[in-house]
Amino acid sequence: MSIVDRLILLTEPNSNVAESYRSLRAALSRSLAKGKRKFLIVSSWGGEGKSMVSANLAVAFSQLLMDVVLIDGDLRRPTLSRVFEREELPGLMDLLENGGDPAKCVYETPVERLFVMPAGHSKQNPGNLLGKGKLPGVLDAITGEDCCVVLDTSPLSACSDALLMGAATDGAVMVVSPEKWQGEAEAHFTQDLEDHGIDVLGVVLNNADPREKTPGAGYGYGYGYGYGYGYGYGQGYGQEHKEPKKKKFSISNLLSSKKKN
Ligand SMILES: Nc1ncnc2c1ncn2[C@@H]1O[C@H](COP(=O)(O)OP(=O)(O)O)[C@@H](O)[C@H]1O
Ligand SMILES: [Mg+2]
Repeated sequence: MSIVDRLILLTEPNSNVAESYRSLRAALSRSLAKGKRKFLIVSSWGGEGKSMVSANLAVAFSQLLMDVVLIDGDLRRPTLSRVFEREELPGLMDLLENGGDPAKCVYETPVERLFVMPAGHSKQNPGNLLGKGKLPGVLDAITGEDCCVVLDTSPLSACSDALLMGAATDGAVMVVSPEKWQGEAEAHFTQDLEDHGIDVLGVVLNNADPREKTPGAGYGYGYGYGYGYGYGYGQGYGQEHKEPKKKKFSISNLLSSKKKN
């Protein structure tokens, strides 16, 4: 199955899940209007849906008739590089290590106006690569008035890559899976983001049935949410999930009411 077959905004544009992505996009559009065009997608744990949310959010932006560069910033598990079949090509790590023209590491995808920058290759540790300080220049070179960036990352529990990357972006979208929710740990990771000066622009509640009471719904980060949610059955996604039959999959976005920006 190609990635295009898994992008719900393309396969099921009228579904509630697609609608949730559009409302997340609407919330982030306020940032776009202020010239903030670089979005970090983070989560506490692996498997919470960062890569899936990144790809679908990028499609949602492309449907606003703007170019979008979806960057595979999960340098440890480069899922997007794989699903867009750009694993072999030079990408972010090459740029961080050697410099060069970032535009040369941006590749077309089957989706109009959606481009991908794969993770690329380096023998160096991703943390060391990020320490070279080249990421802001890379992002600035590919962001423009009609072009935004969606940056997928490794989980906060795994390494500090997302924190290091976040400073070069205009804010983060936090993906939370109720199945993985621990409470204190998430509060801690969110605090880490804020301590690094990374604004949490929105929270996406993924993989939950919003009709069930979940720990993620509306509290836990020390500030309130205005929220809108939708739910659906995740056709096209459920196959790889561990418990596809038990759950009705959904994605909900809980939008931070703490509007610093
Ligand atoms: N809402 C959802 N419904 C069904 N499957 C999902 C959903 N969100 C994520 N998945 C699946 O769960 C797995 C992990 O998602 P992924 O986006 O790779 O997580 P992460 O990038 O946070 O590690 C993938 O196989 C993905 O297709
Ligand atoms: Mg991922």
